[in-house]
Amino acid sequence: MSESATNSIKSRVEKSPSLRRLYNNIMKDLEKVEQELRLFSRSPNKLISDISTYLFQANGKRIRPALVLLCSKLFGYKGKEHILMSTLVEAIHTASLIHDDIIDNSKIRRGRESIHAKWGPNVTVLLGDYLYIKALSLSLQSEHSQIIQILTSISARMVEGELTEYYLSGNLDMAEKDYLDIINKKTASLFSASCQIGGILGRATKKEENHLAEYGANLGMSFQIIDDLLDFTGEEKTLGKPILSDLSEGRITLPLIYTLHNDGRENRKLVIELMKQKDQDKESLREILKIVKSNGALDYTYKKAEEFSRKSREIMSQFPKSTHQEALSLLSEFIIKRRK
Ligand code: FPP
Ligand code: MG
Repeated sequence: MSESATNSIKSRVEKSPSLRRLYNNIMKDLEKVEQELRLFSRSPNKLISDISTYLFQANGKRIRPALVLLCSKLFGYKGKEHILMSTLVEAIHTASLIHDDIIDNSKIRRGRESIHAKWGPNVTVLLGDYLYIKALSLSLQSEHSQIIQILTSISARMVEGELTEYYLSGNLDMAEKDYLDIINKKTASLFSASCQIGGILGRATKKEENHLAEYGANLGMSFQIIDDLLDFTGEEKTLGKPILSDLSEGRITLPLIYTLHNDGRENRKLVIELMKQKDQDKESLREILKIVKSNGALDYTYKKAEEFSRKSREIMSQFPKSTHQEALSLLSEFIIKRRK
């Protein structure tokens, strides 16, 4: 497969001044990761090769591979395994997203039709399984047996997070701590693992490894909170996916949890009524948005993301100064300022 010049990782990064600063020192490695992802898509099976080619051509930000690369380089890592490990975490992430889009009934991802909208759910489930198993089996090539342990245990956590989210969807009594637990499992765990894997490759001490895992977990929390906030405040064109989709699928995220617990009784009653009507009457979603915008829920949510981001930067500041350490701190700022 030849990647079109307009969609190469280099051109994607060049279009974004913030990503350019962040990825400046790892651009060559990121290009190698893209190459590996293209090899990953190769298969004599036409469905596998067509769908995975379509998948890996999409405009992803490649944050998780960047975390593996940057964290390994914090310790001056000079080997080659970081490319394969970065490819694996992106493949696991991609597998999880295509399953997630079926669960969330999302027809659009990264500005294009989602895999299940294009190929149907049966093929999509199997392709997600294929990508996931293939990624895990490649991790056996690592000289560090701990990496496979980390990847299998966080995969189980991701599924657990996704299952709890599904189980609690539509439950308007959901508490903030339930929400934080869900996003910790479904999102922060892979961020954390990516950083820890980078540290393991760089032969970090156990203490440094734990700090990296903590840095990644806080980063992942802020990432998901912003993702959920953008579902209320974002622009569909920039995001590459429809807004208000969490609400319309009954997924209760922080802005709504804040509203239900902190707005007055009248608005709480109104939101509960509007949530019941949302399937028949799309206008009710706009009404909920108005309420959420009026009561400080969006500010509260942003502040929560900032708290996790600040924590991640505090942890990162304990590592010796270097261009990679600086990029990891900047990444945490980028995540809370992003529009997509
Ligand atoms: C996106 O959340 C989804 C995730 C971060 C995790 C999904 C995990 C699974 C489906 C478990 C299966 C895992 C493996 C490893 C195969 P979101 O729906 O809030 O984000 P979105 O708005 O981008 O869809
Ligand atoms: Mg989703």
